[in-house]
Amino acid sequence: MENVETKKRVFSAIQPSGMLTLGNYLGALKNWTLMQDEFDCLYAVADLHAITVRQEPAKLREQIRSTFALLLAVGVDPEKSPVFLQSHVAEHSQLAWLLNCYTQYGELQRMTQFKDKSQKHADNINAGLFTYPTLMAADILLYQADLVPIGQDQKQHLELTRNIAERFNMTYSPTFTIPEPYIPKVCARVMSLQDPTKKMSKSDENVNSWIAILDKPDDIIRKVKRAVTDSEACVRYGEGKEGVNNLMSIYSACTGATYEQIEAEFAGKGYGDFKAAVGEAIVETLRPVQERYNQIITDKAYLEELYAKGADSARHIARKTVAKVMRKIGYV
Ligand code: TRP
Repeated sequence: MENVETKKRVFSAIQPSGMLTLGNYLGALKNWTLMQDEFDCLYAVADLHAITVRQEPAKLREQIRSTFALLLAVGVDPEKSPVFLQSHVAEHSQLAWLLNCYTQYGELQRMTQFKDKSQKHADNINAGLFTYPTLMAADILLYQADLVPIGQDQKQHLELTRNIAERFNMTYSPTFTIPEPYIPKVCARVMSLQDPTKKMSKSDENVNSWIAILDKPDDIIRKVKRAVTDSEACVRYGEGKEGVNNLMSIYSACTGATYEQIEAEFAGKGYGDFKAAVGEAIVETLRPVQERYNQIITDKAYLEELYAKGADSARHIARKTVAKVMRKIGYV
């Protein structure tokens, strides 16, 4: 029989900020689903993190529901991996406060994401934006995660999490597992269709630069058709061909074809044919996700049952960690 205890624990979370993109899917979420058998996974919608920038209540509520439903639609299986809303497990806020007192002002000040965001939102540099990384540390440390699948942009936050955990362990006694970043074996870094030197991002004003997981087939095909390429008119992976490289990487992630196979498939053909095939491949990849999403999002009772179930499972673990931490600090 399989011994669950020997599986490594994985934790990751995603912010409910608007439409999730093809980049989120191929670069992160697909991988979450692939990790479910090998690891003991927990996944959350990081809805507490979302309010470091001002959110409209009705819109936020929609985005949280939609993000949760999308996690299920892409294949996160609540029977295997608890999936929950961060705000439903109060221990996240609780541990975040405690960890704030073991985190230095200077450490938070050095976070590049804080520097970027405080420039972008100069009219609202709130304390939450500043202490965002300690909440993220709490997310991870609550579950004693061994591995955290994250993108490049979150590496510094994970490094800080490790420092906080080590500091706490040194001050008292071993309390937290020291988490490691998990760089997936198969991982597509999906770039903007309009500026392939930049990561595909839903905050890009140019809607042609990104594809939402829930985009309609026609829109997907059109956006790929308009994607920036180069003047060589040859489908091959190479330097100075960032646009084509990006489309090849997407095509490969969607079909499983290697770069050599793609080059062979499109030898002697122009970008028109290639783009049409890439568009189709994306549509076919997203079709089952969209179908499942449409079923789930209208089933309120099912969603609510799963919110509760996920939060219960998460809370069960989180509670133990918080109790341990409080005992060590000296609370009565
Ligand atoms: N900050 C992460 C992001 O914006 C989301 C996140 C919140 C997260 N808590 C986490 C990721 C814990 C990994 C682990 O992408």
